[in-house]
Amino acid sequence: MDTALSPPVGQLLGGRYHVDSRIARGGMATVYLGTDTRLDRVIALKIAHPELSDDAEFVRRFIGEARSAARLSSPNVVAIFDQGSDKRLHYIAMEYVPGRTLRQLLNERGRLSASEALDIMAGVLTGLAAAHDAGFAHRDVKPENVLLTTSSGTVKVADFGLARSVAGGVQTRGGMVIGTAAYLAPEQVAGGTSDARTDVYAAGIMLFELLTGFQPHAGESPLAVAYKHVDEVVPPPSTVLPGLSGAVDALVAMATSRDPDLRPANAGQFLRAIQEVRDAQTPGTAPYQAPAGYDPAPFDRAAEPHPSLPLHSASRGSGGSGPLWAPAPDSASHPYQLTGPGSGSGPH
Ligand SMILES: Nc1ncnc2c1ncn2[C@@H]1O[C@H](COP(=O)(O)OP(=O)(O)O)[C@@H](O)[C@H]1O
Ligand SMILES: [Mg+2]
Repeated sequence: MDTALSPPVGQLLGGRYHVDSRIARGGMATVYLGTDTRLDRVIALKIAHPELSDDAEFVRRFIGEARSAARLSSPNVVAIFDQGSDKRLHYIAMEYVPGRTLRQLLNERGRLSASEALDIMAGVLTGLAAAHDAGFAHRDVKPENVLLTTSSGTVKVADFGLARSVAGGVQTRGGMVIGTAAYLAPEQVAGGTSDARTDVYAAGIMLFELLTGFQPHAGESPLAVAYKHVDEVVPPPSTVLPGLSGAVDALVAMATSRDPDLRPANAGQFLRAIQEVRDAQTPGTAPYQAPAGYDPAPFDRAAEPHPSLPLHSASRGSGGSGPLWAPAPDSASHPYQLTGPGSGSGPH
């Protein structure tokens, strides 16, 4: 069946939004190109899968997604226009971003140069900083949820479907950990908590992936990948790309510290650290000066802590076994729900 031509394509939602064609289908919703007939402009319509419309918890979260993102006004966040339901279809009307996802760019290119990766991360973190300043965390930061416009390459953070207030930072009911295994922070897996630093961790994993083309932790199942975040440190990207600047290694190390207290406290702080490295790498500006205390010695997996900026000077517990240098299985790239220990217990 050609679902691109099947309902709701052709339908008018809420007497206003015409569904034109399908853009992408996700686990919980499908995104369509549409037209706001009242304002006569192109929009994107995210429509929840109809079979989920009886799930009150899901519908509550879907509406929450629209409300969270609608509070933000940032050139680096996809703008939300409206939210509503028509019969059994719950929808979000939003800014259409003509272009591709960061995942598509990575698939095409394999990996990005350090300066491209840092430029994109700066856009992502500016968008996330808007959310953190508004008091909530995104909780599903990954290349699939980062859109890039074709014309200018502007970065737009999308999909606030898992966003939640930082104040109410404890996990969902029943100790369920929600997110995408490859980007889950250790505290989400082990303790079931999340806040702005959880997004910083996922952004650090994403930076590693943009630079190397691989996710740092791979495994046979999402659960195995999730626990690697608890048990293992993220190796410096220079172990894969010799010659990569120690300053870039340090950015990945600081953002992916397993102890959230050792990370930049929010996206704005991580952004400033990235901007310092970018400025230092721009020809004509002063060379990067490692802050006092930064040890550029080759990374030794047996000896923690990570090479990191002084912000993270405390030492931590020992790491686990070496990384699997293989492309992550598909399963690790998709959202899933894993039943984890509800509070603070150890791994496995
Ligand atoms: N505003 C938009 N403009 C263009 N494409 C979009 C837009 N929002 C989402 N998409 C596309 O739809 C996909 C799924 O959207 P997303 O909001 O991430 O849904 P899901 O919750 O199912 O992951 C994205 O990865 C992207 O390809
Ligand atoms: Mg998504």
